[in-house]
Amino acid sequence: MITAIANQKGGVAKTTSTISLGGLLAQQSSCLAIDLDPQGNLTTGLGVEVSDNQLTTYEVITETAEILNAVVATKSGLNLLPADISLAKGETELLGKVGNFYILKERLEPAREKFQHILIDCPPSLGLLTVNALAAADTLLIPVQCQFFALKGLEALLETVGSVKKRLNPRLKILGVLPTMAEKNTVMTQDVIDTLKQQLEEIKVFDPVPKSVKFAESNLAGEPIHLYAGEWKLVQPYRAVVKQMVAES
Ligand SMILES: Nc1ncnc2c1ncn2[C@@H]1O[C@H](COP(=O)(O)OP(=O)(O)OP(=O)(O)O)[C@@H](O)[C@H]1O
Ligand SMILES: [Mg+2]
Repeated sequence: MITAIANQKGGVAKTTSTISLGGLLAQQSSCLAIDLDPQGNLTTGLGVEVSDNQLTTYEVITETAEILNAVVATKSGLNLLPADISLAKGETELLGKVGNFYILKERLEPAREKFQHILIDCPPSLGLLTVNALAAADTLLIPVQCQFFALKGLEALLETVGSVKKRLNPRLKILGVLPTMAEKNTVMTQDVIDTLKQQLEEIKVFDPVPKSVKFAESNLAGEPIHLYAGEWKLVQPYRAVVKQMVAES
């Protein structure tokens, strides 16, 4: 099963969620995490440095490398298709190609046979890379930061999802919205979660991931949260998402 993790809003914990979920999935099955962001935060967050001869998402989507030749193993057992800033150039190169919405889907095919779960960490935009991820995915997870205006950006994302379903990928399902960086006992956090539940009606709103500096620390250490800090309250919300992913696959 392929899950895209997307929200065009920056800094909502897309990458942190990809690492946390990928780490948990790798404990029980084979999992590949794809860095589809030229910022390369997923790559560095998993402790991987892109050397000069390392193949990356850029070479895969521009058809100069096969995906399985570019995959690297990371210390948690999670496999990674790394990316760096060259991917920005890759997105521009795709613009002129016929059928450019489907390139990732097509280039992923060999990995689909090899890995039980594939997670795609999207960049903070609704550009061609994110649309490629949505066209390739079976499900979409939307991390949302518990802040006022959290819902504002969601409308544009849900509109894009609607168009992708209509024109490119009717199979695409929204796994759910994951509230992140939730502050304990604050009116704002509770307000945001209540509003999400009211407004999103048929979309599942997962239990929130608490705000904790341990997430930033685990990124620096290049480890998923369950390895870095096995605290139940930090890991449990991600376990619930994994459970849902496994149920849908
Ligand atoms: N639950 C959390 N509590 C506190 N900080 C968090 C939490 N989750 C993520 N962070 C921190 O918030 C910042 C943004 O997270 P992250 O990079 O995962 O977001 P993103 O949506 O991938 O960002 P971008 O849009 O730039 O790709 C990082 O510094 C990360 O360590
Ligand atoms: Mg990110």
